[in-house]
Amino acid sequence: MREHIPSDARHEIEKLTGDLNYHSYRYYVLDSPVISDEEYDRLYRRLKELEEQYGYVLPESPTQRVGAPPLEKFEKITHNEPMLSLDNAFSYDEALEFDGRVKRLLDTKGDIGYTVEPKYDGLAVELTYRNGLLLRASTRGDGYVGEDVTRNIKTIRAVPLKIEETVHIPEEIDIRGEVYMNLDEFEKMNIQRTKEGEPLFANPRNAAAGSVRQLDPQITASRKLFLVCYGVGIVKGLSFKKQSELIEWLKKARFPVPVSVKIVKGIERVIEEIKLIEEQRRSLPFEIDGAVVKVNDFEMQQRLGAKTREPRWAIAYKFQAHQGATKIKEIIGSVGRTGVITPIAFLEPVRIGGVTVSRSTLHNWDEIERKDIRVGDTVVVERAGDVIPHVTAVMKEARTGTEKRPRVPGKCPACGSLVIREEGEVAVRCVALDCPAQIQEKIIHFASRGGMDIEGLGEKNAELLYSSGLIKHFEDIYKLTKEDLLRLPRFAEKSAQNLINAIESSKNTTLAKFLYAIGILHAGEYAARLLAKHFQKLEDLYGISPERVMNIKQIGEKIAASVSGFFSGTKNIKTIESLKALGLKITNPDFTPLKKEKLPLEGITFVITGALPKPRKDVEELIESNGGHVASAVSTQTDYLIAGEAPGSKLQKANELGIRILSYNELSRLIEQSSKHPRLF
Ligand code: IVH
Repeated sequence: MREHIPSDARHEIEKLTGDLNYHSYRYYVLDSPVISDEEYDRLYRRLKELEEQYGYVLPESPTQRVGAPPLEKFEKITHNEPMLSLDNAFSYDEALEFDGRVKRLLDTKGDIGYTVEPKYDGLAVELTYRNGLLLRASTRGDGYVGEDVTRNIKTIRAVPLKIEETVHIPEEIDIRGEVYMNLDEFEKMNIQRTKEGEPLFANPRNAAAGSVRQLDPQITASRKLFLVCYGVGIVKGLSFKKQSELIEWLKKARFPVPVSVKIVKGIERVIEEIKLIEEQRRSLPFEIDGAVVKVNDFEMQQRLGAKTREPRWAIAYKFQAHQGATKIKEIIGSVGRTGVITPIAFLEPVRIGGVTVSRSTLHNWDEIERKDIRVGDTVVVERAGDVIPHVTAVMKEARTGTEKRPRVPGKCPACGSLVIREEGEVAVRCVALDCPAQIQEKIIHFASRGGMDIEGLGEKNAELLYSSGLIKHFEDIYKLTKEDLLRLPRFAEKSAQNLINAIESSKNTTLAKFLYAIGILHAGEYAARLLAKHFQKLEDLYGISPERVMNIKQIGEKIAASVSGFFSGTKNIKTIESLKALGLKITNPDFTPLKKEKLPLEGITFVITGALPKPRKDVEELIESNGGHVASAVSTQTDYLIAGEAPGSKLQKANELGIRILSYNELSRLIEQSSKHPRLF
């Protein structure tokens, strides 16, 4: 802290820090923000500005969450108290046995008070707070020694950097919990990784663990992680009597706690609660793999003690695994709405977590190769919540030698067109205009404002026309009649007529709009306009090579390859020709042919004399092919005399007229230079 910081500034920094932390808590812990993201960002920027100006930064400032440089390796941290694991129960009988054991050890017949909490499937961590400030954070490791992941944990916004004075603050406290990732974030991340050709995470737990165990905190910060707290290690200067009391304290101190912590008496009630949590499981936005049952009273916990690795006062009731082993019968490409062909494994049906699974996505063809997945393989299939099941492992030891590697499809499984695979991309795509798997999406784009601008053919109507069977192919748009539309639920006289009119007037369009409308991969409105500028008519693009498209300065390799790919087969051209036969007229007002480049010798007159190193005819041709003119006699119109050995009277005349004399070599140099620097002339 600097000495002369005005008290106004100090107060504003303190207030902003407190307010921002409160808003983070509302957002990340309570899931109920009270200000907009923009407002948060505005306050954050203000705080950052003041902190920089006055060099006064509170340790719990939100600006301290990010910006730490990458580490070489993690330091080790020995836990003050070992982080134990839990015994599992896989049936209600085993839960009853646990209750029996507890009663026997406590020497009681009465009902035991338990808490029942969901068991979060993530990475166990310990957060140490000294005098209310987050001192360090570590992974569980082997239970005794973990890794120092403080800088990464700080990037998780649900982690308080300071314990607020809403509670009594202990001198020191080790708070234990789980870092996890929501299912939608996990899916999003894997989609991104597919695009970037990176190996995928098998489940949200691995994704969370992989994100926390990153040497570069920037990477952790970019992943949306959450925290939930459910226990403590050592506590100095504060004591809790019960698990339920601890949870209440954590809640008050603004730590995130499990979505439900039920306090019940007797194992029968415990089982009822487990059932409720299992029912809840499907609707939770994150993975849970069971319920944790804990003896509520800490004094009883003390008396029960622990075995080497697990306490005797708690048990994890595990839900049925979302995992199972089965055989791949076939691998087939499936075309998505955007043309990407995704490999799908057809499986021998297997029951996983109460659901029969017979298909699984394999994400992309690179992933198949990387995991060496073959048809006939026995594989481990995992379901994460409601998400599509995926293959997480191949049991190579079960191979018989008859397994076959799948082939990347050369043709679209939906329409039979040749597929493309761009350089450096994992995705295989069908770019056919008329592919039935993509038609709905393509029509929406075709009709959009920047394209054919057909008002009334938006998402809803496109879907309706497709599902009612009225539009199966692209050209069906131009075959629609008012009567067709009137048979559909959403159309009345006027709306039907309007759509027919809009379709009719879209028939007169420009090349730029049409090229955009047909949705050539990577080619947006700008690229479409460039193409229209350079090519006079649509037909000039039929069968075009990527090199010719690349002649347009602003168009890069990727777009050029895509344009060429689009017009390379006969299928798209056929579809376009059918549209034309139905009355589509394309004009091209954007066409601006490049003026012929000025040739280096254009407008210059030469006369040749004497013996040159090359035959005279060749020299004449050289001049003329570079735009120059060769005259037979020297006159005032002559610009240069090219003089060889033993020149005649022409040289004298030229000298008299003050005409410049060049040797053959000088002529060559002149041509060379002026084609490099045309302005020299
Ligand atoms: S209590 C000694 N409560 O499950 C008891 N653990 O399989 C320590 N876990 O290592 C754990 N949710 O990582 C507890 N509500 C919860 C939990 C939970 C998830 C994890 C934790 C633990 C593992 C044991």
